[in-house]
Amino acid sequence: MAHTKRSIDEHLDEWLRDAHAMEEQAGTMLAAMARRLEHYPDLKQRIEQHLGETREQARLIRECIGRRGSDVSALKDLGARSLATLQGFTGMLAADEVVKSAIASYAFENFEIATYRTLITAARTAGDADTLTVCERILPQEVAMANWLEQHLPQVVNAFLTRNPESEAASR
Ligand SMILES: [Fe+2]
Repeated sequence: MAHTKRSIDEHLDEWLRDAHAMEEQAGTMLAAMARRLEHYPDLKQRIEQHLGETREQARLIRECIGRRGSDVSALKDLGARSLATLQGFTGMLAADEVVKSAIASYAFENFEIATYRTLITAARTAGDADTLTVCERILPQEVAMANWLEQHLPQVVNAFLTRNPESEAASR
């Protein structure tokens, strides 16, 4: 049985709330990561740029949710934020945290890409032109970030592997 217009809208509302929680989590992770990248200026600069984009994305998605007459699930967001805080904390304990973080960020960006592709399709099917426009504007920012990470991963890994482990430890 096909979905009714109402059930399509309910799915779109829920996926928008998930996307909002995802962006909140991304913001927390990127902020935690940027604080610990003093030895990796290129990565730090790109992470900070995307942190700015991410905060704007969260705001745009909140607007979509509000415009649709739904609201952000505070509980879900809170859960996502504590999870990200925990990940930031455990990441800090690993000596190779920059490499682990680069891997996690690349995976996360691709998760975001899949989420926005899903939202674009659902918004189109639901006939929500405003949400469609917003998601089509956000998607290229996520693609650009994923591409940057893909291209710079070897550089980050090599920068880590060729650093003097003792100076690394001393800087903590
Ligand atoms: Fe994002």
